[in-house]
Amino acid sequence: MEAKSATAEAGANIAFTKYWGNVDTRLRIPANDSISMTLDAARTLTTVSFRPDLEEDYVVVDGCAASGSVRQRVVGHLDLFRQLADTGWRAKVVSGNNFPTASGIASSASAFAALTVACAEALELDLTRRDLSRLARRGSGSAARSMFGGFAILYSGASDEGAFAEPLHDPDWWEICDLVAVVSRSGKDVSSTGGHRLAQTSPLHRARLAQVPALNKRLREALAERDFDALGRVAEQDALLMHAVMLTSCPALLYWLPETVTVMRRVRRWRAEGIPAYFTIDAGPNVHILTPPEHVNQLLKDLQANPAVQEVLVCQPGPGAQRVKGETDERCGS
Ligand code: DP6
Repeated sequence: MEAKSATAEAGANIAFTKYWGNVDTRLRIPANDSISMTLDAARTLTTVSFRPDLEEDYVVVDGCAASGSVRQRVVGHLDLFRQLADTGWRAKVVSGNNFPTASGIASSASAFAALTVACAEALELDLTRRDLSRLARRGSGSAARSMFGGFAILYSGASDEGAFAEPLHDPDWWEICDLVAVVSRSGKDVSSTGGHRLAQTSPLHRARLAQVPALNKRLREALAERDFDALGRVAEQDALLMHAVMLTSCPALLYWLPETVTVMRRVRRWRAEGIPAYFTIDAGPNVHILTPPEHVNQLLKDLQANPAVQEVLVCQPGPGAQRVKGETDERCGS
């Protein structure tokens, strides 16, 4: 029998309001709704081939055979699809990123969104985008949002059924730029998955969750009205709220480096000088700077001259996860 194969591509995303903490860890049901922008310049290309002759799953990421927990996480995702398609066939997965993998922004969101679409297409499963977003969420919560292009929301939900993502606006709705200031390329000590588990140990977790609905309301209005300052204020505030939760978890999570703070302060200075720029930071030291396109050149030049910054990636709203022709190059990724 012939292999069942497909290739899919997906972009990472930057959350303006963050997913932090789960109400169900196994099913990855988030504790709050989160809203993000899917990115055009940080993408993963993944080819999946389910084959009758394979004895075990084989996973290649950026040219290297995956092992340990990375492989296990992918195998767990393949199992979900094998169950849906009622097949025991093992698979070969080849995945690569189009952005420098050592840049510290490698994202499980683009990886699991691409893997989800590739699996569903290879096994010819008849699934809606909403179903796909729920399945992507099981691999990585933020991956549910990368199922859609432009701007998307991931609902927390009371069950697996209710925790899905939905599109809010297409990529061409609003040209917001995300300048990713890379201040460190090393991997983080505690993964997002580990961090989500710790969220509820922080006395500030409940306080943040109480704030998020109002922030999401303001954010949705800001998106609908293309009000950049309103969007930036919400994004910066929720990033700080999330990091306050991280900092006060047990054990405490301190993802920032001195260089992180240097860039944060720079962004605030730009604002004092009248430049619309806001920061947001995920579970790591790198800083995402949100700004309208007309300020990109100036800010880019300034960041590139800053010794705290090693590299800057310029991203804009991009498309959602989709099947593509061709296949991922096993040697070097995409
Ligand atoms: C800080 O989706 O990476 O980036 O579900 O364990 O893979 P897992 O976590 P992940 O968490 C995202 C955390 C965040 C905020 C966000 O993107 O919403």
